[in-house]
Amino acid sequence: MPKDTAATQPVVKSEKLDDIALITIDSPPVNSLSQRVVMGLAEAVAAANSDNSVKAIILRGAGDNFIAGADIGELGQASGKPSDSALANSLQSWLDQLEANAKPVVIALDGFALGGGLEVALAGQYRVATTRSRVGLPELKLGLLPGAGGTQRLPRVLADKLGAMAGLQKGSEMILQSIEQPGPKALELGIVQEVVEPESLLDAAKAAAKKLISGALKPVRASKLGDKLLSKEEAEQFRQMGLMMMGDKVRNLVHPQHALDCILAGASEGYAVGIRREAENFAKCLAAPQATGLIHLFFATRACVKVPGVTDQNFPPRKFERAAVLGGGTMGSGIATALLDAGISVVLKEINDEAVAAGRGRIESNFGSRLKKGKLSQKKYDEALGRLTTQTNYKGFDQLDIVIEAVVENIALKQQVFADLEKATRADCVLASNTSTIDIELIGQNTKALPRMLGTHFFSPAHVMPLVELVRTKHTSSEVLGAVIGLSKKIKKTPVTVGNCVGFLVNRIFFPYGQAAGLLVDNGVDPYRIDKAIFDFGMPMGPFRMGDLAGVDVAKFAGSIMAEAYQDRTYYSTLVEHLFAAKRFGQKTGRGYYQYPDGKTEQPDPGLAELVAAARKDAGNPPALELTDNDIVEFTFFGVVNEACRCLEEGIAIRASDIDVATVMGMGFPPYRGGLMHWADSLGSRHIAKRLTEWSRQFGAMYEPCDYLRERAERGEKLSG
Ligand code: 3HC
Ligand code: NAI
Repeated sequence: MPKDTAATQPVVKSEKLDDIALITIDSPPVNSLSQRVVMGLAEAVAAANSDNSVKAIILRGAGDNFIAGADIGELGQASGKPSDSALANSLQSWLDQLEANAKPVVIALDGFALGGGLEVALAGQYRVATTRSRVGLPELKLGLLPGAGGTQRLPRVLADKLGAMAGLQKGSEMILQSIEQPGPKALELGIVQEVVEPESLLDAAKAAAKKLISGALKPVRASKLGDKLLSKEEAEQFRQMGLMMMGDKVRNLVHPQHALDCILAGASEGYAVGIRREAENFAKCLAAPQATGLIHLFFATRACVKVPGVTDQNFPPRKFERAAVLGGGTMGSGIATALLDAGISVVLKEINDEAVAAGRGRIESNFGSRLKKGKLSQKKYDEALGRLTTQTNYKGFDQLDIVIEAVVENIALKQQVFADLEKATRADCVLASNTSTIDIELIGQNTKALPRMLGTHFFSPAHVMPLVELVRTKHTSSEVLGAVIGLSKKIKKTPVTVGNCVGFLVNRIFFPYGQAAGLLVDNGVDPYRIDKAIFDFGMPMGPFRMGDLAGVDVAKFAGSIMAEAYQDRTYYSTLVEHLFAAKRFGQKTGRGYYQYPDGKTEQPDPGLAELVAAARKDAGNPPALELTDNDIVEFTFFGVVNEACRCLEEGIAIRASDIDVATVMGMGFPPYRGGLMHWADSLGSRHIAKRLTEWSRQFGAMYEPCDYLRERAERGEKLSG
């Protein structure tokens, strides 16, 4: 529907079914609670109340969903600015009125009822869900907390069913960990009163409304299901438990503590106190930069699956039912796991029976660990592995829809493999390479298959990491790329489409990160201090700890390829060479930059000082730099921002927000900072260009701002603009 027509269409519709008013929220794509929808709902309920022939109200969503929460676009507009509790107060008081409505309100809930959607549902007096519905309060993922009564009504509903302590525990878990419940589980927990098949939803809601009218059913008002559920002492104990439950995941974040605070205020001091605290804390969260960052990332993640000239072309959808993975090593086994998990049949091809057995073993162990943790049923485990076949030749490859190559990183081998694949597969079979460094065109240069070839660069472990870079060459057909974007979504990966260059996007822009760390050490900064500053900034670990995890030998090899490609801006620290010569390959060998007495936990290693001294000597023993922790962060990341700007300039990345998604999902850049470019813009292009220019005078071309960055800084513009 054209946008101007959509703006004039009613977003809430009312009709009469005998003595029942049926109110339908109809605001595609997901019936989010925009201000227009809330106003429309309030008017529709008021109209039903003033119609004497109406005895009960049913509220439902049009299409496949009830309500997917407050309108995140509107919240994004309000976020990061000083705010008071008025926004949450007005929704809260409307829902208090809805809950107290004299004419019973039945919620007919299909699909998603999330955030504000579940909060509306909880204010109804009877809830019917469907077998395919999913309910939850995922506001914390956006840096917010449930701000329309969710922190008060959900724990009360659960406590009514499970008992005070167990109910509070379950409610806190659902809110603090953004856990959604499927319809049948929501019934078991007392969140809804009835679950039916989708096609019976309206009939079931009508039957419930009739019973409420006749008095055969009593309306349930969630806020009245107990006032003070805990004593203040119990609440304090619970707070400690809650903090433990959140653990390291909430490092540098305050909104989870604000959410816990509302739950506990309501549980120990009653609903009225709790709901007030909720409005106050919601306003604090909305005003904080973390919400702005996370809301930005929500939309950035959805934008990156839209590739101009590809996803807007309406190509007929392709079905990927049969795939092959070449190589069952670290990456191939993870990729095969992700494909099998999504219901796709996989042929794993290896070089000999021993390698086949090892590859199968890795895949079994990927599924096995989920089975052991109860995250996968035995049935699903058997079905997934039932879809796996293994072989050492190309037999039956003419039946495949896609082949993903993950053999060792060797140009000649990969060229041979693709020449073989061209012969063994149908002309419409997609051919993908998981290479981390090699030019895709070089791999396919001896074939005529380039239009159906692309890179699918997964991150390790491939069945866990959410990102896949889709590397297109100038030959890759748009239809093929569009189809693989669809496949990526099917296997629950977020695809970022990138251009073909050494390192593609993520590895290329993070090359200066490791380089900066080496340069700082050569200039007298302690490696453990660098790691701590970067960890405190919010990365999962610092560059040296990461080097140990990836392997010093792997880093040396990858670094040499990058250094060759980007010689003009490479800094050569010999630290990695000294570690390599000492056979300190990282965690896998028990020693790298750190030592690992138990094989897992890092401890500073006094022996590192000697290698650092050797590297400093090679660098000419420059005087030690005196830096603050913030300087260390900027020193380490501004080179990354600079390289990211080059990628935008060259068209390697389509848009700045794709880089945000890729840095968060591929490198663990703190999501609440909104991704690399969003963070850079929060500091300002001028500040970044100024510091880079200063450092380039001292340390050379590695820090020289690229044209894209320099020009934007001169004009005072955003880097993501
Ligand atoms: N507000 C605005 N737009 C939304 C939205 C929301 N709450 N939820 C989804 N959308 C939009 C998406 O941006 C996307 O738009 P696009 O097509 O233009 O890119 C479209 O709806 C479809 O979304 P998805 O691509 O994500 O579709 P999926 O089918 O994969 O997922 C979903 C559907 C599970 C509902 C997912 O969109 C989602 O998780 N939405 C957000 C849910 C949420 O966080 N709700 C809480 C909001 S905050 C709140 O409620 C505060 C309250 O307590 C006061
Ligand atoms: P690996 O060494 O663990 O596995 C490679 C496997 O390929 C071996 O099991 C080998 O027997 C098999 N193989 C070799 N020739 C073959 C052939 N002709 N047919 C079928 N199988 C063959 O290597 P890894 O780490 O899984 O890497 C694979 C590819 O993925 C490489 O291109 C690498 O650069 C890339 N990559 C690696 C990442 C990592 O973190 N390990 C990350 C992203 C990409």
